This record gives sequence, structure tokens and C-alpha cells, in this order.
Amino acid sequence: MVDVRLRPMRWWDIETVAPLEQELFAGDPPWSAEQFWSELAGVPETRWYVVAEAGDEVVGYAGLAAPALAGDPADVLTIAVAPSTQRAGVGTRLLEALETEARRRGAAELLLEVRADNDPAQAFYQRHGFEPIAVRRNYYAGHRDGLVLRKRLPG
Ligand SMILES: CC(C)(COP(=O)(O)OP(=O)(O)OC[C@H]1O[C@@H](n2cnc3c(N)ncnc32)[C@H](O)[C@@H]1OP(=O)(O)O)[C@@H](O)C(=O)NCCC(=O)NCCS
Repeated sequence: MVDVRLRPMRWWDIETVAPLEQELFAGDPPWSAEQFWSELAGVPETRWYVVAEAGDEVVGYAGLAAPALAGDPADVLTIAVAPSTQRAGVGTRLLEALETEARRRGAAELLLEVRADNDPAQAFYQRHGFEPIAVRRNYYAGHRDGLVLRKRLPG
């Protein structure tokens, strides 16, 4: 286990987060630094981004789209952990934080899309109680399918 501290993502994190994103989502395609800027500059009521720090190093990040209304779904927009820190519980900390925030904002369920060929991520989500509910054909670059996963958040 790696000892991490979670805190809100700020604009000065983008110079660390964007290269991690390039490394982790090379073919998806990855979000650009400009997309992170735009996400952080958006309406705070609709978005919630966190980073995980080990010491003063950002080793992971995650983002949530809040439910429009209580009872609506919230969406996991992204979740990522630096390769050297994977499989040490950081992803779990990030996902649990998103789930707590989604509940706090009244979401009835959490939704996300994952590449159908991303076996590690699917194992991760399955372990955390997500179930596949739909296939999105050709959703990702290279005509790769996406799976929509759902976790219900009973109130
Ligand atoms: C998916 C991801 C966020 C998981 O983060 P993590 O910090 O490695 O996850 P954790 O250490 O909390 O893992 C918890 C459990 O998830 C599952 N899991 C995680 N990585 C796995 C892997 N490579 N293979 C199989 N199962 C895996 C395991 O059940 C693991 O428990 P265990 O280590 O006791 O077996 C991380 O692998 C990642 O950043 N991947 C690249 C980006 C990505 O694909 N993001 C998801 C996009 S939808």
C-alpha cells in the first residue's frame, strides 16, 4: 500500500497530470492539457477532480461529473494512477472518494465507460461492484468497443 493524501486538483497540477494522461491513455486518445484546463475552469457544481499525492508527488487523479439532479447518475470521467504506483491501493482511494462525493451530491448510481480490451481496469471496477450494462461499438479510437459499467448507490 502507498500512503497517499487526496486533495482537489488545481490548475498547477495540469503540468504533472497531462503527461501522466499521455502515458496512460496513449491510444484512447488522451485528454490534452487544454481539456484539463477547460474541465477545471468549468462550473464547479458540475465537476469534481481530485489528485492523489505521495509526499509532494502527484501519483494519480480522478474526476467526476456530478448528477444534474438528486437521483440522477454521476459519471466517473477519468481515473488514473502512475504506472510505478499501480496495484498499491491508490486507484481504490480515488474511486472511493468519487463515490463518496457522488453520494453526497445525491447520485443514485455511478456510471462510466471503459475500453472493452482494458482488462486491468475492468478487473478493478468489477472488484468495486460495477457491472456492465451496455456495449458502445467503436466508441474508442481504432474502432475499439467501450463498455458502460454501473454501480448502484443505494441512499
Ligand atoms: C485502473 C487503475 C486506475 C487501477 O488503479 P490501481 O491503483 O492500480 O488499483 P488498486 O491498487 O486500488 O487495485 C485494486 C484492485 O483492482 C484490480 N486490479 C487493479 N489493477 C489490476 C491489474 N493490472 N490486473 C488485474 N486486476 C487489477 C485488482 O483486483 C486489485 O486488487 P489486488 O491488487 O489486491 O489484486 C490503474 O490500473 C490505471 O491507472 N490504469 C491505466 C488508466 C486506466 O485504464 N484507467 C481506467 C480508465 S476507464
